Amino acid sequence: MHQQEPFSYEQARDGNRSLWNELTPVHLRSYGVDRFLAGERWLPLKILEEVGDVQGKSLLHLQCHFGLDTLAWARHGAAVTGVDFSPAAIEAAQELAVQANLPGRFICSDVYDLPNGLDEQFDVIFTSIGVLCWLRDLDAWARIIADHLKPGGIFYIMEGHPLITTFDERGTYQFALSYFHNHAPYIWDDEGPDYMDGSYIISTPSFEWQWAVSDIINAVLGSGLKLDFFHEFDALEDPVFPEMVQHENGLYTYPDMPAPLPIVFSLKAHKEE
Ligand SMILES: C[S@@+](CC[C@H](N)C(=O)[O-])C[C@H]1O[C@@H](n2cnc3c(N)ncnc32)[C@H](O)[C@@H]1O
Repeated sequence: MHQQEPFSYEQARDGNRSLWNELTPVHLRSYGVDRFLAGERWLPLKILEEVGDVQGKSLLHLQCHFGLDTLAWARHGAAVTGVDFSPAAIEAAQELAVQANLPGRFICSDVYDLPNGLDEQFDVIFTSIGVLCWLRDLDAWARIIADHLKPGGIFYIMEGHPLITTFDERGTYQFALSYFHNHAPYIWDDEGPDYMDGSYIISTPSFEWQWAVSDIINAVLGSGLKLDFFHEFDALEDPVFPEMVQHENGLYTYPDMPAPLPIVFSLKAHKEE
């Protein structure tokens, strides 16, 4: 891993898009599409509880990958729109909607280009797990979210906690990377296994940003949205990361944690009427 300064956003964006085009077919094989198609509950219980009833609501899912979570929201009665900048992912999402016989609209766009291409407001904007590290500017991201929410609409994110990205890669809970925002992205260009399919070795580099909790909260507040809550979890009812293991109490957490640590956070905000 290294950093390159100055970097161009276009280089980072195009590199990351190539990575996600490469990973889409790998994830189509490894995410559990068969279980989704068989009707298994898909969205984590904590997300369902915290987002609340979406029946009859319009829902925009940012960075939707190939649409599994998006279409799961359609099963819960939302009128869904998924956005992702990977053409391979959007094509796969459109095919999955047909296979699952669920209504869903999918748009291929960089989140930062949405103001030019999506002139609509939604009741709910949702994004989750593995999204913030691909974003270069959280203030602009939050403003786009606020602009695309109807008055009274809600924004919800569940994401890996910024603390866990500071650990070294060997799962030993040693701090190795800065907790604070890196203005030039980290370039991960060593070959390594995919997080879902460990037998697949990724060769395309990724360009990733670290964001602190304060960056996330201040971006949302700065957009004018009103914060409803910010929650931190050391364990959840569902394994939102593949490496999570189940404990005797039924909850999933990271393996061999030396102490209770926040591994996931959720944030909910709303736009005033
Ligand atoms: C980890 S995945 C999505 C998370 C989702 N929880 C999942 O696992 O299916 C990250 C997604 O973000 C998308 N992405 C990354 N940067 C983006 C951007 N600037 N605009 C739109 N999509 C982006 C990628 O194409 C990828 O599909």
